[in-house]
Amino acid sequence: MIISIINHKGGVGKTATAVNLGHALARLKKIVLIIDIDPQCNATSIILGTDEYRKSLYDLLTTDQNPKDFIHPTKYPNLFIIPNLPETATLEFDMVRTAPESLFELKKKLSVIKNNYDFILIDNPPSLGVFCISSLNTSDYVIVPNEAGSRTSIEGLKKAVEFIEKIRNSSNPNLNFLKLLTTKVDRRLAVHKVLLQLIKSEFPQNKIFKTIIPTNTDIQKAELKKETIFKYKSNVAGAVAYKKLALELIASIK
Ligand SMILES: Nc1ncnc2c1ncn2[C@@H]1O[C@H](COP(=O)(O)OP(=O)(O)OP(=O)(O)O)[C@@H](O)[C@H]1O
Ligand SMILES: [Mg+2]
Repeated sequence: MIISIINHKGGVGKTATAVNLGHALARLKKIVLIIDIDPQCNATSIILGTDEYRKSLYDLLTTDQNPKDFIHPTKYPNLFIIPNLPETATLEFDMVRTAPESLFELKKKLSVIKNNYDFILIDNPPSLGVFCISSLNTSDYVIVPNEAGSRTSIEGLKKAVEFIEKIRNSSNPNLNFLKLLTTKVDRRLAVHKVLLQLIKSEFPQNKIFKTIIPTNTDIQKAELKKETIFKYKSNVAGAVAYKKLALELIASIK
């Protein structure tokens, strides 16, 4: 199944979730492919830790080569990636010009490899633009991470959920908004407790992951070392939370 990780707000933990949830699932013996559709290429950098890759999402979207050729193995067993290049940002103009066909290109390409993976996770840029629409057109489910500390986030979250509904009602009837994921939570902070309550009052319980991701600087340190949290330190709070999330995800889509 294909899961988009989206939120048009930046820095909420989309990439941290794509790479660490992806690795957690791989450690649970699931075969996982991460697709980096964000021209910032942060997931690519964390997972591959090198710029020495030749075939990327850019070529996947611009050539007719076999999609299998763009899948890179990683240093992590069961975990694969289609990396991205910053140049992909320049495709946006052409994609707008040639829409709507261009917005189904990724879906077309992935249709031949989709069944080879238990989970395909797509890490999105902080926008609801052409890359996000392509990602949602391709996906079965959507996870929306949300940073606990942000006061303005509830309205933004509602907009993201409305956007998912819009895509479901127009171009992808198979799309399901799975759940919200609250990230960077510090339970000692009163404002975080208020926000967690607020989310509970604004969204149905079955649309919120029970697992919350705590604020854990090891996640940032792992990112600096271009590693997942499990490679960096597999027993810290961030790793424990992402493993729990992986188990909850598996249980919730059974
Ligand atoms: N649970 C966490 N605890 C502490 N730091 C975190 C946590 N999750 C993510 N971070 C850090 O916060 C920053 C933003 O996270 P991340 O890159 O995952 O967000 P994003 O939503 O992908 O951002 P963008 O919208 O720019 O793609 C990064 O430096 C990351 O290491
Ligand atoms: Mg990101």
